[in-house]
Amino acid sequence: MAASEQAVGATREDREEEEEQVVNPWEVSAGKGGIDYDKLVDQFGCQRLDAALVDRIARLTACPPHRFLRRGLFFAHRDLNEILDLYEKGGKFYLYTGRGPSSEALHLGHLIPFMFTKYLQQAFKVPLVIQLTDDEKFLWKNLTIEESKRLARENAKDIIACGFDMDRTFIFSDFAFVGGAFYENMVRVARCVTINKAVGIFGFSLEDHIGKVSFPPVQAVPSFPSSFPHLFAGKDQLRCLIPCAIDQDPYFRMTRDVAPRIGYQKPSLIESRFFPALQGENTKMSASDPNSAIYVTDSPKEIKTKVNKYAFSGGQDSIELHRKLGANLDVDVSIKYLNFFLEDDDELEHIKKEYKEGRMLTGEVKQRLIAVLSELVARHQRARAQVTEEMVDAFMAVRPLPNMFG
Ligand code: TYM
Ligand code: TRP
Repeated sequence: MAASEQAVGATREDREEEEEQVVNPWEVSAGKGGIDYDKLVDQFGCQRLDAALVDRIARLTACPPHRFLRRGLFFAHRDLNEILDLYEKGGKFYLYTGRGPSSEALHLGHLIPFMFTKYLQQAFKVPLVIQLTDDEKFLWKNLTIEESKRLARENAKDIIACGFDMDRTFIFSDFAFVGGAFYENMVRVARCVTINKAVGIFGFSLEDHIGKVSFPPVQAVPSFPSSFPHLFAGKDQLRCLIPCAIDQDPYFRMTRDVAPRIGYQKPSLIESRFFPALQGENTKMSASDPNSAIYVTDSPKEIKTKVNKYAFSGGQDSIELHRKLGANLDVDVSIKYLNFFLEDDDELEHIKKEYKEGRMLTGEVKQRLIAVLSELVARHQRARAQVTEEMVDAFMAVRPLPNMFG
């Protein structure tokens, strides 16, 4: 086991003395001064997504790059170049992403990978599988099976509202779909991973129940096309690209380690930074603190109050001082949020410059942010209201997708 894997698996308690950051699927805690993404890339052993690669994506797809790419918000990858090489030669691949249905409403951070995946699906014209890990949340969150299943279905509506193409998208929940070829792949993976290795990657302890230890193969195997015989029969070597935030990397480090040993291709990844909590980079959006995040169910009034009251400001304490010194953009949450959601590059640059040089005040920046977020959330709510139970059934039906590469 590599030393770097041990560091990743270490728990918050182990690390607290050193004030080191911990990033894994269950815990995101920054060291002093926010998450050090450069360090994560080195620690995890992924590659940086540089401007040349962004240009290449734009060229190959003949689509302008998504703002998440232009602004380095998707900042890391694994073997993305191999996917692009193949696509350049006329080859195809499929996309895989997912959601652990732990809450009724998604927060804006949860939308990031789905918005981005929608762009990728449209730009590359490829099929997509979306896993809802209702089993994972049963195992980790003390939910009943019934409640996990209900949340999975509710979350599916929010995911569908992001605009996925029904002819190219299969959404499944683990409780409903696991079995058959999918399960065969799970046990193939499970046999390749020792407990020692799992502890190194995920930080399990001997006091954890064995449900947790047994879960990672479930999230691993959608990376393999043979897990979906109704979609990819006879295409066992089809490549897979996984968009997600970097907290999910441990699952796929394990998957990539096992893949060649069972005769499969390693999945490629494209990984994002975190959309921060309102209180700032080194705090966490939390389901138990509604004031830490904006939810897709928030009203315009709630958005306004939350932004005005809680969005951490990099502005100075008095107007006089602010005019003189300007804002510290590195810690300002409104600027970070605009960076994710304000589409217009020129306007974003203008706001940053004016704010940094003290000509714009925090209140003015927040006002713009409130408008951007209210619009985004209202649009999402309108789209979600259009999603019927029949549409959910249709997306989740186990069916072939005849024109998925067309
Ligand atoms: P979950 O439900 O915790 O998160 C769903 C997706 O959202 C990303 N994410 C964020 N992105 C940006 N900023 C944030 N603050 C933020 N918080 C969460 C997560 O990285 C994830 O991409 N075990 C998974 C479900 C899953 C999955 C997958 C995810 C199953 N298969 C394949 C990605 C790819 C989970 O509980 O995600
Ligand atoms: N994994 C976290 C959870 O399930 C969510 C999360 C991931 C998060 N990355 C984050 C929250 C960054 C805040 C900041 O609770």
